[in-house]
Amino acid sequence: MSTPHLGVVGLGIMGRNLALNALDSGTTVVGTDLGEDAVRGFEAEAASDVVATTDLDAFLDALPTPRNILVMVPAGKPVDAVLGSLAPKLAEGDLVIDGGNSHFPDTSRRHDEMAAQGLHFFGMGVSGGEDGARHGPSMMPGGPKEPYARVAPILEGMAASVDGEPCVAHLGAGASGHYVKMVHNGIEYGLMQLLAEAYDLMKRGAGLGNDRMGDLFAEWNTGPLRSYLVEITADILHQPDTVEVQPDEMPGHEGPPAGMTGRYLLDFIADTANQKGTGKWTSQDALDLGVPTPTIDVAVTARYLSALKDERVAASGLLGTPAGRAERPDDLVAGLERALRAVFLVTYAQGFALLKRASDAYEYGLDPGTVARIWRGGCIIRADMLETFREAFRADPDLPNLLVAPAFTEILTDCRHALREVVALGVGAGIPVPAFSASLAYLDAYRSEWLPANLVAAQRDYFGAHTFARIDKDGMFHSQWDPAGL
Ligand code: 6PG
Repeated sequence: MSTPHLGVVGLGIMGRNLALNALDSGTTVVGTDLGEDAVRGFEAEAASDVVATTDLDAFLDALPTPRNILVMVPAGKPVDAVLGSLAPKLAEGDLVIDGGNSHFPDTSRRHDEMAAQGLHFFGMGVSGGEDGARHGPSMMPGGPKEPYARVAPILEGMAASVDGEPCVAHLGAGASGHYVKMVHNGIEYGLMQLLAEAYDLMKRGAGLGNDRMGDLFAEWNTGPLRSYLVEITADILHQPDTVEVQPDEMPGHEGPPAGMTGRYLLDFIADTANQKGTGKWTSQDALDLGVPTPTIDVAVTARYLSALKDERVAASGLLGTPAGRAERPDDLVAGLERALRAVFLVTYAQGFALLKRASDAYEYGLDPGTVARIWRGGCIIRADMLETFREAFRADPDLPNLLVAPAFTEILTDCRHALREVVALGVGAGIPVPAFSASLAYLDAYRSEWLPANLVAAQRDYFGAHTFARIDKDGMFHSQWDPAGL
């Protein structure tokens, strides 16, 4: 069998690291980039001989057909520009994989455009940051099934692996790969916000210091909460402000190097969080599909609120800062680990429920158990919990929501009391806990046999004759509401 080949277009951080990773796992790699520096940098870092060029024709000539080409350029117009230059030069049966964070409607369009030219196209989510790209990411390819067999050995060689299973699989049709990555990021937003709120509850609500909080996160990371995000949160809390990073060591970094105060670095980091948009896309599509994802929605909103720094400073002067010490700080801290277990589960449950609906609506043919399997390693939301989700979906692939899987009934019963107490103590202390409270409300609403939506239905009918359903008769009804009652 001949050595597998992969062409990589775009040798920036992610492209270069993925190319080096492929090379390490025995794939012959050919790279191209418009920038001479990127090409030379890749050649210098490669342990074995590689072909790297700024000339697209030379790049294509160096690849045996049918070609496998991974495009790693920023999402949006750059992807269209690359596909526009590549497509006329490709041969029927060539496969192009977009490994960026592209928005799934763009991927659908590109898939159709490439198919019309006899070309295969995958949208592939890649998670794990630059380190993951270099040493083992989770990869989420979607598109036509047929060419997958050709690249499976390449991708499996590059991917992280858990219990001998690679964190990559063909996920489904069309834009499914980028859709799954988008939902991955939505869950990522939710979990990050929950961890930030847990930090606030311990910091302002219980007065704990960074070291103690770091120790607690590290301790939690040895139990059911074990996950990448909990692990890095512990590291972040422990990190002193003594590591000087020179601007030229950080691509894209401008300004003076970080400080050397010797105190905790986190305390010197501005309290505004940016976003590139994938969390917002998740909420937008969840709203379009009618799937409730409140934890993800408030996580997106919390980043917007964080960005209103000047307004927040002004308002705190006018209205007073609400946050103070919680009434029972020891109980608050004691309940946090179990509360986090419940809200982590709720966040993943919302993401998987969205994937289920999207798979039906867009005919992706997703298997939720496979998604859980490839998220167990390499990606930002990797967590021990994912194995239990995989087992739940294996037992019942049509599970409407992870919350009703038998394996989680006991956990939720055990943990939701702690969650309610944590939310109550946090709210009582004036600490904003939007993701904790939205998760609790979701859990309470989802398991509510009755909700007060009968009143909403009545209001709609009152002012707009929108009709309502009755519990005792079939059909839709309209009433002559009696304003005299006012
Ligand atoms: C990953 C991450 C990554 C994402 C960044 C920043 O899975 O490796 O999700 O793809 O782009 O974490 O995302 P935001 O700028 O939207 O926070």
